[in-house]
Amino acid sequence: MRVLYVSTEVHPALKTGGLADVNAALPGALASRGIDVALLLPGFPALMEAATAGGAPVSLGAAFGCPLVNLMPCRLGDLPAWLIDAPALYGRTGNPYVGPDGQDWPDNARRFALLGWVAARFADGGIGDWRPDIVHSHDWHAGLAGAYLRARGGAGPGSVFTVHNLAYQGNFPATTFPDLALPPHFFSMHGLEFHGALSFMKAGLFYADRITTVSPTYAREIQSAEHGFGMEGLLRSRAGALSGILNGVDTSTWDPRRDPALPARFSADALEGKAVCRQALRAEFGLPQAGGPLFGVVSRLTAQKGLDLLLEALPAIAAIDGQGALLGTGERALEAAWQLAAASHPGRVAVRHGYDEALAHRIFGGADIIAVPSRFEPCGLTQMYGLLYGALPLVRRTGGLADTVHEAGRVGAATHTAADAPGNGFVFELPHVTDLSAAIARAGALWRSPTAWQAVRNAGMRAEFGWAHAAGHYADLYRQIRPEA
Ligand code: ADP
Ligand code: GLC
Repeated sequence: MRVLYVSTEVHPALKTGGLADVNAALPGALASRGIDVALLLPGFPALMEAATAGGAPVSLGAAFGCPLVNLMPCRLGDLPAWLIDAPALYGRTGNPYVGPDGQDWPDNARRFALLGWVAARFADGGIGDWRPDIVHSHDWHAGLAGAYLRARGGAGPGSVFTVHNLAYQGNFPATTFPDLALPPHFFSMHGLEFHGALSFMKAGLFYADRITTVSPTYAREIQSAEHGFGMEGLLRSRAGALSGILNGVDTSTWDPRRDPALPARFSADALEGKAVCRQALRAEFGLPQAGGPLFGVVSRLTAQKGLDLLLEALPAIAAIDGQGALLGTGERALEAAWQLAAASHPGRVAVRHGYDEALAHRIFGGADIIAVPSRFEPCGLTQMYGLLYGALPLVRRTGGLADTVHEAGRVGAATHTAADAPGNGFVFELPHVTDLSAAIARAGALWRSPTAWQAVRNAGMRAEFGWAHAAGHYADLYRQIRPEA
């Protein structure tokens, strides 16, 4: 079984969010199952630098306004990869999607059309002698792969499209359509037209043989108006082709027993290092000792993540003598609001803006609670990192958060915890300060029973979030589409 894995970012070379963590681990987990996986990625400078060259480039000529596109065979980490060398489109440092002004690059439609178009070129077997059985594309950037495969006609590879976040859709004005070099009838309701515009996300959802998303709960939620971002009708019509496969954790990067970023290492059986990490984190953020738990946040600052709600709930954290340490970057207004909160709650709240991988590890290592109050969350990885690092997650019951975190604080009362899912954190229902504050109060109550807290924490640290399970589900899916491969 040969799988072409089409995406845009891979940790550690290039990362804007959880997608990069997934792409660093899932392909390897698929390869461990005997699947012949090759990555296809845009030749962004950070990826070109990280790759080890591996053979002669294949010239694809001029495409999408780039005078010469070359396909570079290489290796990224342990895996074979192809990077699309198109300097006019990809030769820009920094964030792969937006310019230094924070705005989308104006030629994004052509930049990411090229990615899907190259993926489909593999189907002809004209690139090397490697012809995939399955093209597996991720998020809107790779959304056109299925459209180009369909446009070329004939029997070709099967296609899987994975939605990591339906909120980012890659929608462009209809006037962009001629740039894509697709047959005119593709611009229709039964194609990639979306409310008069064109949508890479819709193309991904419409043309793929199978659609997956990154948790079972999100797979259900996106079929509703609340979480469907306008795609719910299409998703409902394709419900038979849609499934949710929960992400895993890359334990070669996220393991408190051997994490070089931590000031001290620890495990569920040897927790002294956790106290050292907590102490060091307080010192690093200028927070004094306190009687309550230390809340950590590592997040993009966007409306999705609900961190405006957490600001409103700061009185509840103060009420249990808790403290907050936040690392986040994103929307200016949210950064300013957190800055203001830190200034007005000295010794209680401290923030760092920017992107800092090592500090993120130190926060998971030092925190008692990881707060992920997202309005929606396709999967979410930080709640799992928190669990493994002995920081109990406090989350909204949505998407992958609902699938991984179960209430531990409602001792003896009504609980959402299924009989087979022991409590491992704190879960609130509605994206309102009242519900969030009540969850914080439950955390405070459990904190006051150190034995109970430790039991919950230690069980969480022993949880299994490896990628093997998810890789098995993807492999089954590939086999359903191409039983003969
Ligand atoms: P999303 O992809 O929606 O941002 P995830 O929870 O799936 O959410 O993944 C977020 C990833 O990005 C995690 O690896 C997290 O540690 C990391 N991250 C988020 N913000 C920062 C930051 N400011 N500095 C360092 N790492 C961050
Ligand atoms: C997206 C989602 C996040 C998910 C990640 C990896 O960025 O927002 O919930 O964990 O993709 O799949």
